[in-house]
Amino acid sequence: MAAYSSEAASKGRGLTFVPTMGGLHEGHLKLTQEGRRLSADGDLLVVSIFLNPTQFGPSEDFSKYPKNDKEDLAKLEEAGVDLVFMPTVTDIYPKGFKTYVEVEGLSDKLCGQSRPGHFRGVATVVARLFGIVKPRRAVFGLKDYQQFVIIKKMTEDLMLGLDIFGFKTVREADGLAMSSRNAYLTEKERAVAGLLSKALLAGEKIFRRGSTSAKEILLGAEKIIEKESLVMVDYLKLCDPSSLEDLSVVTDRAVLLIAVRIGKARLIDNCILERRP
Ligand code: PAJ
Repeated sequence: MAAYSSEAASKGRGLTFVPTMGGLHEGHLKLTQEGRRLSADGDLLVVSIFLNPTQFGPSEDFSKYPKNDKEDLAKLEEAGVDLVFMPTVTDIYPKGFKTYVEVEGLSDKLCGQSRPGHFRGVATVVARLFGIVKPRRAVFGLKDYQQFVIIKKMTEDLMLGLDIFGFKTVREADGLAMSSRNAYLTEKERAVAGLLSKALLAGEKIFRRGSTSAKEILLGAEKIIEKESLVMVDYLKLCDPSSLEDLSVVTDRAVLLIAVRIGKARLIDNCILERRP
């Protein structure tokens, strides 16, 4: 991978990078399309598939995470990706690996509360992948909003020398954000999972009608899911889009974020609230 990258650089060709953990769905494939669109003529599109052990807690789904290399490779070939990087765990974490990246203040909020160490694992693997791939730009999904903010901040703070792009969430027909983890849902659970995005929409509607009160917006969202016994809410919050600090009043921009557990799946979603002129 490193040789491919320096060879491309010697010919003036930049790399556009889409990191993934595999179990690819249309959300991932949309990111490859966006990556291609962002790239200059002659730039190369690289996707990584690496199920990163350091971002999973001991009681999380690392061993059960959907894995289908053959299907993933066929999808990426069809999508016209130039190179798929599939490192092993020891490629990424060789014996004696000692450096971990902590993005203070952002990593311990929201998902960081129920998944301690998760974002340390994410930031570390992404930093190392950037170091190997040496991309000119990298593309992420806004579905994992907190992850996007953390990676952007890490890239700025460590001056990693690439541009980070975020793209909007790809959804199923009922609004459920596509996720590799949706595969864990039973039929009954899947039927109620659409409530996540409906709750966000309800909150957004209250904002659109002119409310600036976080309490009102959150209450509107909460009403949609509170009656559904299969949905266990981890958090529902209205935050500043950059600092991820809780907001009590929304002026121009905010992000409404939700995380729930439905059966074996932990699902997240979010929606940006913005006053349009
Ligand atoms: P993974 O969950 O495989 O997601 C890879 C990329 O796809 C992330 O940028 C994620 O935000 C994006 N994505 C997932 N679902 C999406 C959807 N419905 N619409 C649009 N984009 C979507 O996120 C990770 O892997 C890992 O944490 C990683 C960054 C690769 C580090 O290990």
